[in-house]
Amino acid sequence: MDSQIIGIDFADWRMPEVNADWIAALEAGKVLYFPRLSFELREEEKSLLRPDIRSPKARNISLDANNHLKGAEGDAAVQQALTEMIGRFREQAQTLVYSLLPRYQGALRLAPTSYRPMQVETRAQSWRADDRRLHVDAFPSRPNYGERILRVFSNINPEGVPRVWRVGEPFETVARKFLPRAKPYVAWQASVLKALRITKSYRSEYDHLMLQLHDGMKGDQTYQETAEQVTMPFAAGSVWVCFSDQVPHAVMSGQYMLEQTLHIPADKQYDPQANPLAILTRMMGRPLV
Ligand code: SIN
Ligand code: FE
Repeated sequence: MDSQIIGIDFADWRMPEVNADWIAALEAGKVLYFPRLSFELREEEKSLLRPDIRSPKARNISLDANNHLKGAEGDAAVQQALTEMIGRFREQAQTLVYSLLPRYQGALRLAPTSYRPMQVETRAQSWRADDRRLHVDAFPSRPNYGERILRVFSNINPEGVPRVWRVGEPFETVARKFLPRAKPYVAWQASVLKALRITKSYRSEYDHLMLQLHDGMKGDQTYQETAEQVTMPFAAGSVWVCFSDQVPHAVMSGQYMLEQTLHIPADKQYDPQANPLAILTRMMGRPLV
């Protein structure tokens, strides 16, 4: 397997040049890793690095596009400090993405920014929600019709603890293994899910297949252990970027991370043939959305 991780030795959020090889690698499902690019915490922000700052009911702390903070405990001053820290990361993550992928400008849709203060190793979850199993991102309640999930991650651990991921094989290899086992798509079931508001919109065949891949991978213990994969410790004070709907990934350990999700329509990419929608459409031989 070719290396799934591409190291980029820049320490600035604004890329000094456009590099077609990196764009092609990212769109082909590689992870771009910036070991020297760090999110700088202000002195007064260091006190925000504690797990009990998250409200026990929330999975993450998040800041939406209207600067509305969710999932945090603490008084107004703490909430304000979190808003500023997460908001600053959002600006820097956008600077990175715009300078890395200039043609995406105008087509990107910003999702909420998240701050994840919990220790990964101690989180107990059902197998389907367990991100310690290799998976591609696919969300049961939010059909996306092939719109991409581009994510910028930053490990802000103050004690030098890496965030350790496993990164799996190329998307097409995954699809070849799990499509034959996928349950068939049933249009009337998609209508029922929508009527019951289990999904926010009608689940397309693409969304169905992506969930089948997600569940197929996570539910297969043999696959988890034997699939080609690399263990990758993302250093404290580093950034990495990938299409998480395409790169099989699992998080094994670490604590304190910032994450920005950006969405882009599949047909607005540099190579509109490299994404999961194009790959699955070719493999199934019919339109999926
Ligand atoms: C995930 O997206 O599966 C989790 C990534 C992480 O928490 O490092
Ligand atoms: Fe994930």
